[in-house]
Amino acid sequence: MEFFLDTADVDEIREIASWGILDGVTTNPSLIKKSGRDFKTVVAEIASICNGPISAEVTALDTAGMVEQGRALKEELPENVIIKIPCTPEGLAATKILTEDGTKTNVTLVFSAAQALMAAKAGATYVSPFIGRIDDTGADGMALIAEIMNTWDNYNVETKVLAASIRHPTHVLACMQMGAHTVTMPTKTFRQLMSHPLTDKGLAGFMKDWAEVEAAGNA
Ligand code: G3P
Repeated sequence: MEFFLDTADVDEIREIASWGILDGVTTNPSLIKKSGRDFKTVVAEIASICNGPISAEVTALDTAGMVEQGRALKEELPENVIIKIPCTPEGLAATKILTEDGTKTNVTLVFSAAQALMAAKAGATYVSPFIGRIDDTGADGMALIAEIMNTWDNYNVETKVLAASIRHPTHVLACMQMGAHTVTMPTKTFRQLMSHPLTDKGLAGFMKDWAEVEAAGNA
């Protein structure tokens, strides 16, 4: 299983990378806007912090434009940058062409198992179903992950399922129970996964008692 961060905030990426278990980072145009920084500069910096796949999204809507942008990003940015492409017919064609170039891709904005299958057939390295945005409509985002994983089980699909639009730790755990290969989550969710009040309380108790052991000269 892979744990990715879904942010373009390099301070947050540095913090989580220091935990030693960060496998990759996903960005999108909205996250780049939020960073307030130059697109290529910030993606290159992220790629220097984390060795894993770093998704950089194309913004052209036509196939030729996506392919041109994808090739330029691969040319200009570090080796571990992969190309994020929207799940549209034009994006599907661009995914096929870039895959034939040997470029790794992440097909994004996936909201149905049918879209995920189409992206896999085009050779996508990752497909990104958006759980939280489905939940936001009143439907069940996790049901989509289950449907995709069940479909994957029937065939020898190499494309990794990258669960995105994660809102809370329960999403992450449910994805892992269903066998999703990768989850990308905001920093808040990453921190929540590691946090438990009984760990904090227990550690404080151990530290207090150890101070008394030291004071007694028994350390
Ligand atoms: O990176 C794409 C996805 O994870 C977006 O999440 O929170 O904007 O629905 P969100």
